[in-house]
Amino acid sequence: MGAMSVDMSVELGGLKLSNPVLLASGTCGYGLELTPFLDLRRVGGVVVKGISLEPRDGNPPPRLAETPCGLLNSIGLENVGAERFLSSRLPQLLATGATVIVNILGSSAEEYAAIAARLRDAEGISALEVNISCPNVKAGGVAFGQDPRAAAQVVEAVRKEWGRTLIVKLSPNVTDVTEIARAVEAAGADAVSLINTLLGMAIDVEQRRPVLANTFGGLSGPAIRPVAVRMVWQTVRAVKIPVIGIGGIASARDALEFLLAGASAVQVGTATLADPGAAARIVEGIEEYMARHSITSVSGLAIGQVPGRRAGARFVWRLQ
Ligand SMILES: Cc1cc2nc3c(=O)[nH]c(=O)nc-3n(C[C@H](O)[C@H](O)[C@H](O)COP(=O)(O)O)c2cc1C
Repeated sequence: MGAMSVDMSVELGGLKLSNPVLLASGTCGYGLELTPFLDLRRVGGVVVKGISLEPRDGNPPPRLAETPCGLLNSIGLENVGAERFLSSRLPQLLATGATVIVNILGSSAEEYAAIAARLRDAEGISALEVNISCPNVKAGGVAFGQDPRAAAQVVEAVRKEWGRTLIVKLSPNVTDVTEIARAVEAAGADAVSLINTLLGMAIDVEQRRPVLANTFGGLSGPAIRPVAVRMVWQTVRAVKIPVIGIGGIASARDALEFLLAGASAVQVGTATLADPGAAARIVEGIEEYMARHSITSVSGLAIGQVPGRRAGARFVWRLQ
């Protein structure tokens, strides 16, 4: 039997990707660190570490703590700043042939807009991913992503400066993630990605103090996957724009949970830290699964009723 050809390409708010598996921001640096282990053309795209207008040092160490099935981090958005990213990191990354998505962060809607304007003229950036999990300095440090109005303001400000694909990365540290998703959709987002890390904390019982210098950190890895799958399922059914699933994906099986929940693509984060080739393995595993289940197009994997995208099973059943 000849190998069945499967179509792995996906379209995300105007952005065409060769396959639905992306590298998640903050876990692949500026992509270059991975090139000895992973051909970046084998993944759908690389989402680089969050970029701010000016360079940032991040939080003092210790900034990482392992937990059962997870990782707590409080890197504090350390990055080289927009200028150095554009002059040195971006050209090297583009030379690998990777599809580049730039994650951006800011302390005010104006700062987000200014970075978008600075990146606009650079060639080769396929999309922006706006990290709204950052503290809003003007609102006493409450994250933009925890308030639908603040989140919408950031997206409107970036939208004015950025004509290409605009992805908004949602925080899971909210009661109802669909409320934020709907607000950013109305403000002009082309797609949403979720989840960012879940706020957590660990205490060193012998030292009798928090493990992380910053006290709190963001939890990632397999421990958060069920929370992420639930939030993706809910968001897919609340908005019309594509949803990118993130959270604890370490295998093709894990990625498929999100694609079946209705995600159009996925991102692999913490798993890359343990196995730099994980994302490429996941691409192959999805292809193998599709061939085994005689599914020809990865964009047709969603189960259940996804409004505006495909006739749900229940609807078909009623017609019969
Ligand atoms: C060390 C580390 C750094 C991260 N830095 C960023 C960042 O700069 N911007 C961002 O939007 N998300 C950042 N994240 C969040 C990840 O992109 C991802 O949303 C989260 O870790 C959940 O996915 P995972 O369980 O596959 O890691 C970071 C995560 C880790 C572990």
